[in-house]
Amino acid sequence: MNGFSLWPPTASEQAARIDSLFIGLLVVAGAILLLVAMLLLVFSIRYRRGSSARRGELPEFLRRDVELGWTAATLFLAIFLFWWAGATQLRASDAPPNALEVHVVAKQWMWKARHPNGAREINALHVPRGEAVRLVMTSQDVIHSFFVPAFRVKQDVVPGRFTHMWFRATKPGTYHLFCAEFCGTEHATMGGTVTVMEPEDYARWATAQPQEQDLPGEGAALFVSLGCSGCHAPSAAVHAPSLQGIYGRMVNLADGRTVRADAAYLRDSILLPKRDLVAGYEPIMPSFEGLVDEGDLQSLLAYLESLRGEISR
Ligand code: CUA
Repeated sequence: MNGFSLWPPTASEQAARIDSLFIGLLVVAGAILLLVAMLLLVFSIRYRRGSSARRGELPEFLRRDVELGWTAATLFLAIFLFWWAGATQLRASDAPPNALEVHVVAKQWMWKARHPNGAREINALHVPRGEAVRLVMTSQDVIHSFFVPAFRVKQDVVPGRFTHMWFRATKPGTYHLFCAEFCGTEHATMGGTVTVMEPEDYARWATAQPQEQDLPGEGAALFVSLGCSGCHAPSAAVHAPSLQGIYGRMVNLADGRTVRADAAYLRDSILLPKRDLVAGYEPIMPSFEGLVDEGDLQSLLAYLESLRGEISR
């Protein structure tokens, strides 16, 4: 953040890859532009009116071989660029399994983040250098977009569903965080900072934050206070499915479909319980729409995920 620069700082693994792709495309496009401009110039001089340049039939090799040659060359160039961009994109899409998971809730007009140990931040995000960080994001109102130019990452944050993004920061420092989707009058001010710290410093920072309950712990408390446990605890008298190990499992629905109980499904089941009814159960669960906010939902889902235990995928 010092002085004016047209090139944003390069502070993540992804940033370096995106930059080489960008420069690569620029060089290829520049070379083609130059070639076409040169040919245009040469031909317009050579074949100007009244010049004695030959204008008859072209020799056979020019008609066939050159045509074939440039068709093949541009085809391979296009395929190569497609592969390059596609491979870069795919590497950016899936976080490594051991990534540090930070939950983000966007709302008009702020970013709220929660770390695995329960530390919370608003309009700020502290991350350790060199470690994969995965953001699980949702919005409480309208569509926002989480954008960190220095990391070359941007992801829409959408109400009613979870979107994900991951990065591995490479350089300690403080970088801009923006909202990149117009979301209302104060969209322009909806931003903050991402601070990359050495892993030791991050650990020290995280433990120095006011200790709140971690996400699953908070979810467990909500599970009781909202009354979920009254029906869903293994010992409950009411006939409701046990949620032990439900996260990520396949469930059979009353209408014959089989779906995976992923975050989206469990979220819908809390807000719209009558929609995807589990086979063999009565539609007696009330909707919790309006009673829980996005942060509560993230905690509840984190709790359900923690119940998965050894039963994985
Ligand atoms: Cu949030 Cu623009």
